[in-house]
Amino acid sequence: MSNTRPASGKLSIFVTRRWPQAAEVALGEHFDVTLNDGDKPLSRDALIDGFASHDIAAPTVSDKIDAEIVAAGAAGKCRLISNYGVGVNHIDLAAAAAHDIPVTNTPGVLTDATADITMTLMLMLCRRAGEGERELRAGEWTGWRPTHLVGRALSGRTLGIIGMGRIGRAVAHRAHFGFGMDVVFQNRSPIADGAGVGARQLTDVAAVCAASDFVSLHCAATAETANIMNADAIAAMRPGGYLINTARGDVVDETALAKALHDGVIGGAGLDAFQGEPQINRDLLSAPNTVLLPHLGSATEETRVAMGMKVVENARAFAAGSALPDKAG
Ligand code: DGY
Repeated sequence: MSNTRPASGKLSIFVTRRWPQAAEVALGEHFDVTLNDGDKPLSRDALIDGFASHDIAAPTVSDKIDAEIVAAGAAGKCRLISNYGVGVNHIDLAAAAAHDIPVTNTPGVLTDATADITMTLMLMLCRRAGEGERELRAGEWTGWRPTHLVGRALSGRTLGIIGMGRIGRAVAHRAHFGFGMDVVFQNRSPIADGAGVGARQLTDVAAVCAASDFVSLHCAATAETANIMNADAIAAMRPGGYLINTARGDVVDETALAKALHDGVIGGAGLDAFQGEPQINRDLLSAPNTVLLPHLGSATEETRVAMGMKVVENARAFAAGSALPDKAG
């Protein structure tokens, strides 16, 4: 089928989850929009139907867009997948390429929010904020005393970053200039400028783990990075070291991590992304010294609106036959 325009002259777009209002309004100015009014996860059949019956599909991180859904879209009207979110590991990019359907994403606009949530997790861990809040709410706080919930400072400690892209750099900047931390990192390609903070690039993940008090994951989830924090990498961490994951669950071997936490091999973990989320590994739920957040990395009003505006920008470029600003696949 071709991209025949409806009477409105606008292309149709299928949006799988509700967006902040300002972004939905902007989308409606340029497209015939189908919203998921109930904002519940859509069934596979609903996704297939939505992809097939709209010119553009705008899924998000929590939708699994496999080859069959892409093929149904291609057999129907879908000519663009404009993802609401920067990560595209939930979309079968090879299938999209095989059907000549471009995929766009929303880079840049969630860098600061995600770096902020990374610092939140680091601070919550080393200052024992989660423990303290749970204790107080449970009515178990017996009052101030010099030895109560004593944590550690960030200042003077070493942060190891895996994946020095936009978000990795923003975290390095906050950690170094805001909290006086030293930074080391691993990255696929060489980074010449020390990420602007005098950071040292090390040869591999194990070297970063061995050199760091905090290891923070900022790589994209790809076939190469699947389980990059495996049992060996976790074993290479310093005793008492903390693992932070605001990237994707797939980059961590959660079974190995839960075991290391329960065995006290590492100091703790701060996680904002999980394999199979929103289901959470039971051994992580019960692990000590662990802060678990429900994928809040980009969850500020400003960022979530900006992500929607990125989809609008990409979809408008597509409608105009222009180059796509954020082609991810
Ligand atoms: C993304 O855009 O990939 C983020 O994970 C959403 O917070």
